[in-house]
Amino acid sequence: RESTLVIIKPDAVKKQRIGAILSLYEAHGLVLEEAYICVPERALIEKHYEAHKDKDFYPSLVRFMTSDRVFVMKLSGENAVEVVREINGATDPAKARVCTIRYLYGDSVQFNAVHGSSSPEEAEAELALWFGKDQDEEE
Ligand code: GTP
Ligand code: MG
Repeated sequence: RESTLVIIKPDAVKKQRIGAILSLYEAHGLVLEEAYICVPERALIEKHYEAHKDKDFYPSLVRFMTSDRVFVMKLSGENAVEVVREINGATDPAKARVCTIRYLYGDSVQFNAVHGSSSPEEAEAELALWFGKDQDEEE
């Protein structure tokens, strides 16, 4: 059983989509293991998006992700990382397949409703970052 980190971003929280989005993950068999709401600290978002720190959109992305409340989740299930990425859809909502979260609730490449870890290794690091404990020690 695999776990992954999902963040419902400020745009979707503001639009009251937490329930609708969680329902889509649950409908695909994913299980909500842990969750909380917060306005992320700048340092946390900078660490989370470290890989993008040289991109021109990085300052704007950090500002967006620290601007308001997010809903942070640990979801588990078979192939959870890949299943979440499929349900989320393409980064740019204009290119996302129908029925994906970004098709339904995304507004632009930045305001795209959700984040999902992109590999099991990234999921482990991100879960440690957002849930503050070593996930290997849980089982
Ligand atoms: P995440 O699940 O959020 O990591 O999305 P992703 O893996 O599909 O995209 P990626 O990791 O490449 O980018 C991380 C986030 O940066 C995206 O989800 C967007 O919010 C934002 N982003 C990516 N590309 C662009 C861009 O070209 N312009 C802007 N403004 N934001 C971008
Ligand atoms: Mg990514």
